[in-house]
Amino acid sequence: MARWPKPAEGSWTEHYPELGTGLVSYEDSISPDFYALERDAIFRRAWLNVGRVEQLPRSGSYFTKEIEAARASIVVVRDNDGQVRAFHNICRHRGNKLVWNDFPREETAGSCRQFTCKYHGWRYGLDGAATFVQQEGEFFNLDKKDFGLVPVHCDVWSGFIFVNLAKEPEQSLPDFLGPMVTALGGYPFDTMTERFYYRAEVGANWKLFMDAFQEFYHAPILHARQTPSKFSTAAQQAGFEAPHYRIDGPHRLVSTAGIKAWELDPEMRKPMEDITRSGLFGPWDEPDLGVEKMPAGLNPAGCEPWGLDSFNLWPNFVILIWAGGWYLTYHYWPTSHNTHTFEGNLYFVPSRNARDRVAREMAAVTFKEYALQDANTLEATQSMLESRAVAEFPLNDQEVLCRHLHKVAADWVGEYQHNGAGA
Ligand code: FES
Ligand SMILES: [Fe+2]
Repeated sequence: MARWPKPAEGSWTEHYPELGTGLVSYEDSISPDFYALERDAIFRRAWLNVGRVEQLPRSGSYFTKEIEAARASIVVVRDNDGQVRAFHNICRHRGNKLVWNDFPREETAGSCRQFTCKYHGWRYGLDGAATFVQQEGEFFNLDKKDFGLVPVHCDVWSGFIFVNLAKEPEQSLPDFLGPMVTALGGYPFDTMTERFYYRAEVGANWKLFMDAFQEFYHAPILHARQTPSKFSTAAQQAGFEAPHYRIDGPHRLVSTAGIKAWELDPEMRKPMEDITRSGLFGPWDEPDLGVEKMPAGLNPAGCEPWGLDSFNLWPNFVILIWAGGWYLTYHYWPTSHNTHTFEGNLYFVPSRNARDRVAREMAAVTFKEYALQDANTLEATQSMLESRAVAEFPLNDQEVLCRHLHKVAADWVGEYQHNGAGA
């Protein structure tokens, strides 16, 4: 029997009275002025996830991250002591971008003992200290120790590397993440090192794509052809609802129920799913995760049968954990008021054999299919919102997290303006 912990009375939205139930304006997703404010009020103030520690396997491993919304390029590196550090990717001599390969706007990764500027050859250690100045005697009282790389606040939680571009972050990373997210600590993210990566340029505001993944009202309609038709018709008729929503500060969580694809009526499965033992959300054979007890933060409402938890970390990062023992991350990096770069990563316990690998590949291509369907309506929505023919829209109870995202964006921008625009 499904035990779904719906609130005893009333709806989800009414449990968060600060959200209200009124019509919602999407001006925040079409206004260049609002985006200009978001860049400083949000992306230069919040902790931003830029990757995982597995991307920096040894001292000298580094990667760069272009954060256009925050007008920043940063280099993240593991120093000689094993500590993860972040720096602005700018040479202290005359401002050249320090780390890049063939194209200066493209991100790169690698391993080195020191960073050397391509322009006049200044060098910097892994701790950011300037170590070599070409023809140093030609300068005027130049002391190298005053010309190290400019550090960026950087901290790690559960293997996720976060940076903060404020001069002084308003909160430490654990305080920013808050109890709902940090209660996930202890989940075996570190054992899931087989990664599949997608990146897409999307012609829509970053919040519109986040909205597409934080309600399931659309699922039986938009993904109707992806799921077996009997299944999607049944879901449509039943009015599928997620069993649990939770809001903690600027962050959001939705839990949804799960189905075991292999227990479905065989005619509701696809032949490829039976062959690859993978489909309708991931490989069928659960890996050994090597943990006795899952952290309390996982499936916090005790949904049974549980399918997934989608943790939406403010502002632009999602960790989606599947009951089957793997996880996804999404990042939404704004590049203008009506464009953003989407990144999707799938993480699995490494394959032990070809069958495992095929199951993971199947999950990865299925994910891409879903994401393309989810992305498909975005440019159509963006263009029509920009027509301003309609200004305000009704959101239902299942869209409570969309309502919350737009309110948090407005609150952060409002607070920033109130405090004299960061003066
Ligand atoms: S700009 Fe980097 S060495 Fe001159
Ligand atoms: Fe979807």
